Amino acid sequence: MDQPLTREFGSLEPGRAWFNTAHQGPLPSTAVEASSRAAEMKANPCRLPDSSFSEVPEVLRARLATLVGGAVDEIVLGNSTSYGLHLIANGLSFAPDDEVLTVEGDYPATVLPWQRVARVRSVPASELPAAIAPRTRVMAVTWVDSFTGRALDLSALGRACRERGVWLVVNGSQAVGARPVDVRSLGVDALVSCGYKWLCGPYGTGFAWLSPALRDTLRPQQAYWLAMQGDRGLDHMRDTRLRDDLGVRGFDVFCPAAFATSLPWIASLDLFLAAGVDSIARYDQELASRLLAGIDPSAYSVVSPSRSALVVLSRRDGTAFSRHRLLTSAGIDTAYREGNLRFSLHTFNTVEQVDRALDALHIQDR
Ligand SMILES: Cc1ncc(COP(=O)(O)O)c(C=O)c1O
Repeated sequence: MDQPLTREFGSLEPGRAWFNTAHQGPLPSTAVEASSRAAEMKANPCRLPDSSFSEVPEVLRARLATLVGGAVDEIVLGNSTSYGLHLIANGLSFAPDDEVLTVEGDYPATVLPWQRVARVRSVPASELPAAIAPRTRVMAVTWVDSFTGRALDLSALGRACRERGVWLVVNGSQAVGARPVDVRSLGVDALVSCGYKWLCGPYGTGFAWLSPALRDTLRPQQAYWLAMQGDRGLDHMRDTRLRDDLGVRGFDVFCPAAFATSLPWIASLDLFLAAGVDSIARYDQELASRLLAGIDPSAYSVVSPSRSALVVLSRRDGTAFSRHRLLTSAGIDTAYREGNLRFSLHTFNTVEQVDRALDALHIQDR
């Protein structure tokens, strides 16, 4: 099995296996070095030229555009998944009867922002897209579900949403970095993600890709002074006229240069782009298949049959919590979520680690 980015994760604790990227992806060594450089720049601010405050966000924006197959003018820089989802929820106008369609049991980050602005109706994922109603304005879904590993068929949802004039807003936090993305062929209106899980960036990173139609519909809820300077430098800062010509940059998080996070994230993104997310995705899937193939079905059931880099297992005898603790003490880090064991399989995990996890999963079972 060809393992992408092998040499980049040498700092992971020896003897442990980190199967919890769905919570936090580890920072590659090149990004750790970029973190140190960012700290040195801050320790010596003469190394932070004025121009870097506009140049660094643009480098980051360009990398993210390449990653998702979009244009730079469609990428909002954020600090989380929630930042992107809120700017969309708060930037749309809703009439009193308008509704937002969500999935029952979805991750709270995907559902909560809409509850402040519109009526929210939740249906089982299997009822999408049929549940679209005349008053549905937005369908807000999570691409890969954190609790089950289920991956939605976005193309089918996108087609239905387009036909009915509904915005399709997607939380891709458990997918971006683990599966190739081409926003044009996906047919969604917004793809929002954090950067600190499958993209192995620092905590406090995120972005939103907005289709030009959605971008041009949204009202910015903020008036950030630095964004208002736009391309005219820092020479006219007392000019407090509100500008409406900033496009996507009018939605960026405040302090978008945030060197301590943006520089290492750019380093991580460069690695992912050079390795190719498609080959990373292939590798992750091979690991997931190996894990699934080794599971004893009399001890565990697989919570979602639809394939992603998340494998969620339910323990048939109800002892998932103690099994989670046993795995942790055996050096195998997984997540315990909603009564189940969750494995995240990513580029730095190895076949040997999967086999070790399978042994620990089945101790005393066979
Ligand atoms: C589906 C999903 N969305 C969002 C988040 C995190 O949201 P935020 O980046 O806003 O903290 C998580 C974290 O586990 C998640 O699984």
